[in-house]
Amino acid sequence: MTQDLLAPVLTRIDAGLDQSVERLVDVLRIPSISTDPKYAPDVRRAAEWMAGQLTEIGFDAAVRDAKKHPMVVGHFKGPEGAPHLLYYGHYDVQPADPYELWDSDPFEPKIVEAERGKRIVARGAVDDKGQVMTFIEAFRAWIAVHGTLPIDVTVLLEGEEESGSESLEPFLNAHKDELKADACMVCDTGMWSVDQPAISYMLRGIVSTEVKITGPSRDLHSGMYGGGVINPINLLAKILGDFHDETGRIKIEDFYEDVLPVGENELKQWEGLGFDEEAFLKEVGLEVSGGEEGYSALERLWARPTLDVNGITGGYQDPGGKTVIAAEASAKITCRLVPDQDPEKIIEGLKKFVEDRLPKGYTLEIVYSEGFPALRVPTDSDYLRAAQAGLRDEYDRDALLIGMGGSIPAAGSIRNILGLDSLLVGFGLEDDRVHSPNEKFEMVCFHRGIRSNAAIMARLAELA
Ligand code: BES
Ligand code: ZN
Repeated sequence: MTQDLLAPVLTRIDAGLDQSVERLVDVLRIPSISTDPKYAPDVRRAAEWMAGQLTEIGFDAAVRDAKKHPMVVGHFKGPEGAPHLLYYGHYDVQPADPYELWDSDPFEPKIVEAERGKRIVARGAVDDKGQVMTFIEAFRAWIAVHGTLPIDVTVLLEGEEESGSESLEPFLNAHKDELKADACMVCDTGMWSVDQPAISYMLRGIVSTEVKITGPSRDLHSGMYGGGVINPINLLAKILGDFHDETGRIKIEDFYEDVLPVGENELKQWEGLGFDEEAFLKEVGLEVSGGEEGYSALERLWARPTLDVNGITGGYQDPGGKTVIAAEASAKITCRLVPDQDPEKIIEGLKKFVEDRLPKGYTLEIVYSEGFPALRVPTDSDYLRAAQAGLRDEYDRDALLIGMGGSIPAAGSIRNILGLDSLLVGFGLEDDRVHSPNEKFEMVCFHRGIRSNAAIMARLAELA
């Protein structure tokens, strides 16, 4: 029955693709960079844009103030007894720098022709505005054809996903009743390949921190003091270099204590995926891999914890040189976590690791620190089977169950506070340059993403 309703919706999606792209381009023009306070007005503008879309297609939607950047919440009542899904996505984006490495303005979206057909190039194209639009456009088409949706829908769009989701948990706690549903649909992950859909069932957690080391009471002439004092930048570099042993293992005390080994069956299943590590490296211009020795690539990417330095600051940064020993040096560090690592414990361990290596008179300041644990979602629910069926309807093959190295803190918070398991269904590709210059979303992924969301709704409706 619901399947009959789907066909005209798909026709409508196909016929309206150009307009869908125009709408996506429109929102991609807004530089909603959540981490940098100077973009706060743009972040709000993007929230208003999203709420406007939902209202236009018939949702009861609004921009809702939160601690930092606003949330967008929308409701659409489906048929009596239909399942109720909470759709989550984020409308904020990562900073676009380094700007000079973009082939076009990151906030002036360009449609370009490439190997797989057209693609949309802009910051946020796939992460996550383009993916959010896959479900909003599916709603739009369904409502246009049938005047309603086949399921009950609540939409929750966040504006801080790329900067730590500080407001999310308080917001979920304050609006538990309003946001309750049967399951959550998160559209912020990837496919296995352009014609092989996937559902992610594990996400790594994350700890983010900045450590700042201060030594001398002021910047010093490097001739007058060089050789006489310990340089904070040299010291920081040495400590950062000391985090990993020669086999790639992280040396922080008890770092691996709670790490669960991957089961044999699961490892076999991953082997069966036929991940091409050489191609994975080649796509980013590399020939040799990194990480811990003795683990397969997918294990290292999905099921092993990491520690990476994301930025180093200290000393003179402007053009030319300056003969100075800087008084302080700092590094932004993230650890990707796996089940059952505790973010608090990791932060403590990291702090101690640095402190233990500081000479007398040198001090450590933790500029900020936050963390979210890893997440595994159940793979045996009716909702997941419905999502699989919808993807099969569109791609004519079974979705693979895969891990994801990235983190979506919201999925864990939604689990813990609202009690909802997430369906992590995404349409990004490995080479989409997420967080990098020239981020893009393949047109075919956008188009089939919209179609898939419609097909998944049709399958979810059958659970009624
Ligand atoms: N969409 C990504 C997460 C992701 C990346 C999923 C790659 C699948 C593949 C998400 O927007 C993201 O980047 N999250 C941040 C969270 C962090 C800032 C707390 C991340 O993983 O770095
Ligand atoms: Zn994202």
